[in-house]
Amino acid sequence: MRGGAGHVKDPLEWRQRAQGRGNRVNPIVVVLNGPNLNLLGKREPEIYGRETLADVEADCGRVGKELELSIEFHQSNREYELIDWIHGARERAAGIVINPAAFTHTSVAILDALNTFEGPIIEVHISNVHKREPFRHHSYVSGVASGIIVGCGTQGYTLALRRIAKLIKAPKQ
Ligand code: DQA
Repeated sequence: MRGGAGHVKDPLEWRQRAQGRGNRVNPIVVVLNGPNLNLLGKREPEIYGRETLADVEADCGRVGKELELSIEFHQSNREYELIDWIHGARERAAGIVINPAAFTHTSVAILDALNTFEGPIIEVHISNVHKREPFRHHSYVSGVASGIIVGCGTQGYTLALRRIAKLIKAPKQ
């Protein structure tokens, strides 16, 4: 079983309870980006495009507003920081969107951290990893993801947010 004591079991219920107390609270979705994605727009633009990570963050903020989600957007080149953000999401967030970048193909530690999160997780890859080198075809994260968006460019992030919004409202669909 994923999750543990004190975890937000039903983020929608949590949101409704908060609203019942007169607070207007949007569910939090944590968007995580792994190593080298800070160089998006400059790094191999023929593969990853010209949009920067700041552009992606702005897109997520805009779509988050439309979907009434509160977006927390992070990038790190350090595995432990991504793990700490996943742990932080356990108590507070309704969903996670993650592009683990190269850690996708290497990190059991990120898989273990995601296994502690009970809400929906969408894995995003900007490029179509299946058209690329064989070592990119395996993902440790896919086994825990509710869905995977691959090869849709940076649009993958906002598609993932739309999917998370739907899953938060109707977890079985
Ligand atoms: C990536 C694909 C990974 O294989 C690669 O290591 C990345 C980016 C993508 O978004 O296409 O850094 O996750």
